[in-house]
Amino acid sequence: MDFDKVVCNCMSITNGEIKEAVDSGADTLEKVQEMTGAGTVCGVCCDNIQHLIDQFVAERNQ
Ligand code: FES
Repeated sequence: MDFDKVVCNCMSITNGEIKEAVDSGADTLEKVQEMTGAGTVCGVCCDNIQHLIDQFVAERNQ
């Protein structure tokens, strides 16, 4: 995965920043939105963010 890739253009949030949020305990879309601001403007990125969260949570629990 490219951690520098921007997942949320509105807030310029990268894959890596979503991972950091998940690693700090944000395990739902709502918590990641609160922590990073990602997905809080136009919302088109929310599905992608949710997929990233699912993946990072699964990795964290391995
Ligand atoms: S691209 Fe993420 S809120 Fe618009």
